[in-house]
Amino acid sequence: MKTTYVSKQPNAQGLIDWTADENNTWKTLITRQSEIVKTRASEEFLEGLDRIRFSMDEVPQHTVINRRLRDFTGWEVEVVPALIPAKEFFNLLANKKFPAASFIRIPKDLDYIQEPDIFHEFYGHVPLLTFPDYARFMEEFGKLALSIAPKDRSRLFRLFWFTIEFGLLRSGTGVKAYGGGMLSSIHETVYSVESSIPKRVDFDPLTVLRTPYRIDIPQPLYYVLSKFTDLFEILNQDVIGLLEESKELGDFEPLFPLESKEL
Ligand SMILES: [Fe+2]
Repeated sequence: MKTTYVSKQPNAQGLIDWTADENNTWKTLITRQSEIVKTRASEEFLEGLDRIRFSMDEVPQHTVINRRLRDFTGWEVEVVPALIPAKEFFNLLANKKFPAASFIRIPKDLDYIQEPDIFHEFYGHVPLLTFPDYARFMEEFGKLALSIAPKDRSRLFRLFWFTIEFGLLRSGTGVKAYGGGMLSSIHETVYSVESSIPKRVDFDPLTVLRTPYRIDIPQPLYYVLSKFTDLFEILNQDVIGLLEESKELGDFEPLFPLESKEL
């Protein structure tokens, strides 16, 4: 994947000099997204938003986010270039650092951007990183990914994609979103929870490991956890064994044209 975006670098005080236009983009994005998620995001995500208290007016400084995040789980976000190698990504997770590209989409990309910008990284991922079990899942996932052959990492990443990025779960008030991919997208938050177009299938790790995906379209398929805490059970299973089994069984037929690569 190519990007035309470049991360902004912090100054000597660790602060990023966001322009008025960039702050305005953040304000527009967070204002409209905050309405959309109220009835569609999982209660844990909404609680995480309350804990982190993002500014509604300007792009938050990562130094401020980190002070708050550290108090809950010891995690930090780390400023990285727009795209980083997979190994570096997993290495940061294994060290309790969430990689966050520090650029924000330009107004013409307001509704959709393929590459993850700071709105996606902060708004989509930081709220749930205030939950110790969720943060531990991320850390263990990073360690597990580093422990396997690099050629198997994109297959393993499907477990991340269908949970951390595009996961749904059941609640007393219906299916809710907890994935940062959909929760930072004005269209996909609604589509994932309410549209009759995508399939919603009960989460099963072996099934997920056999499911190809594309990064550049609304997902045609979501996996649904029965409850939030089931996420933390995934890595208690023999994931390496399941990975091998998924390779032997092979992939499911994709529900989309195969034009884009995973990871
Ligand atoms: Fe993400």
